[in-house]
Amino acid sequence: MRLQRIDHVGYAVEDLEDAVAYHKRLFGAEVAHRERMERDGVDEALLAVGGSYIQLLAPTRDDSPVGRFLARNGPGLHHVGYGVQDVGATLHDLRDLGVRLVDDHPRPGSRGCTVAFLHPKGMFGVLVELVEDPITRSPEPGTGGPSTLAT
Ligand code: CO
Repeated sequence: MRLQRIDHVGYAVEDLEDAVAYHKRLFGAEVAHRERMERDGVDEALLAVGGSYIQLLAPTRDDSPVGRFLARNGPGLHHVGYGVQDVGATLHDLRDLGVRLVDDHPRPGSRGCTVAFLHPKGMFGVLVELVEDPITRSPEPGTGGPSTLAT
């Protein structure tokens, strides 16, 4: 099984501060991480939910992917992040299976993750992001993990 967890659910929002405040008021959610990704033209706030996140995304410019999404659809579900052990190897296998990709190669994501997007066509209309998190990624089989390090 390639998928380790649902890493995050990404929402496109018009106003990041409003969306953060709304989640705080409704659910008591706290911001675990904030980052501006200039390359993607997006400001993000991550709200921790167990081992996963709600990722609130607001565009920093109208011609960014999230800016165009908002202009076309308004606020809403933008993508789902699937946690995987190795984005490069997963992309390679999916390409061999004929899956349509947005990113041909892994690239840097927020919080030090490596990511790549799959095209919604072929994923039931859902934009899917593969996420390899250097902190939460589980160890390769046989190399031992946190449980074997515990004394
Ligand atoms: Co994402």
